[in-house]
Amino acid sequence: MKKYKIALIKGDGIGPEIVDEAVKVLDAVASCSDFSFSYEEALMGGCAYDIAGDPLPKETINIALNSDAVLFGAIGGEKWDTLPREMRPESGLLRFRKELGVYANLRPAVVYDELINASSLKASVVKGVDLMVVRELIGGIYFGEPKGRTADKGWNTMVYTRDEIVRIAHQAFKIAMQRSKRVCSVDKANVLDVSQLWRDTVIEVAKEYPEVELSHMYVDNAAMQLIRDPRQFDVMLTGNIFGDILSDEASMLSGSIGLLPSASVGAKIGVYEPIHGSAPDIAGQGIANPIATIASASMMLRYGLDEIAAAKKIDDAIKKALSEGYRTQDLAQFDAKEVCSTSEMGSIIANYIVR
Ligand code: NAD
Ligand code: IPM
Ligand code: MN
Repeated sequence: MKKYKIALIKGDGIGPEIVDEAVKVLDAVASCSDFSFSYEEALMGGCAYDIAGDPLPKETINIALNSDAVLFGAIGGEKWDTLPREMRPESGLLRFRKELGVYANLRPAVVYDELINASSLKASVVKGVDLMVVRELIGGIYFGEPKGRTADKGWNTMVYTRDEIVRIAHQAFKIAMQRSKRVCSVDKANVLDVSQLWRDTVIEVAKEYPEVELSHMYVDNAAMQLIRDPRQFDVMLTGNIFGDILSDEASMLSGSIGLLPSASVGAKIGVYEPIHGSAPDIAGQGIANPIATIASASMMLRYGLDEIAAAKKIDDAIKKALSEGYRTQDLAQFDAKEVCSTSEMGSIIANYIVR
């Protein structure tokens, strides 16, 4: 029997609550498949700083590199917001992604028919939305030098090299080939030199994918188009900061940020993580929506472990729970037959799998 080693990084805030539910669902899937999981926990974020004095202890990298995949919850919280930049939870996460080399962050946004009323947009606008933001994850303004801060000045630099753009563009075109074969590259080439290089490079890479239709959009227009007519998008290819912003925006097409999963890939070990944060405002109350993390576990099976049938089982169970009217607090107003806790939602989804 195959045995997959999963590194679990629960993190801060709601992180432990949502990762526990994803583990419940993974165990349910394993119980009716020809593989099993072993888990090793590792610290990252504020909890790691509190215990080890570092938001990314060396041991965490080692555990991740010794695993088959990493399932990650979320990090951050006000308690750590005044630490020096390098000691903040967010710096730990950025360093983690960089050290692993996961340059491609796949963020699908799908509108479930069952939740059509949960979107902040009209049903007629969002029905059938199925798009994928392909976000470059370890470059751009998040990492560019110089950066710094004095009392009266702060600066960051948006840098991309041609090679960094080439590899993320290939990811986007390959994904588009499995989907509706359309890539919209989002940039700010009308203003930024780095974006002009981005656009020129994407056009070059596109020549290797003649079946894929490539379009370009400025990021400000893209933010508007995502709300005006989201169905026009299949794959949205974009840089680090634009992808961060557009994917949070896209989550409201689906109805809650608690629904959106992601896969951070491109290296030997992938990191599977919801797109949302540690939600300090609801942490510890047992009301967070675990679906984004459970769907991230499904992406781990699909993209990281090549267990497509098992991934489908999770996806189907999520849909079943929603179609039966189970809702966590964030979606309680929308066609709920029963409002459930974080842990109840995990159990319901797990039960649909083993049944
Ligand atoms: P957030 O995503 O944590 O929360 C935004 C809003 O969405 C909050 O009202 C929250 O309650 C809600 N929300 C988020 N996830 C939810 C879920 N699963 N179920 C129900 N509601 C959910 O963003 P924020 O408030 O801007 O940031 C909080 C902290 O998280 C900050 O420290 C930030 O740096 C960090 N953060 C971490 C990650 C990550 O670990 N990948 C991502 C984003 C933000
Ligand atoms: C995300 C988060 C992170 C990012 C932060 C916490 C570093 O917002 O995963 O989307 O900006 O990438
Ligand atoms: Mn974000």
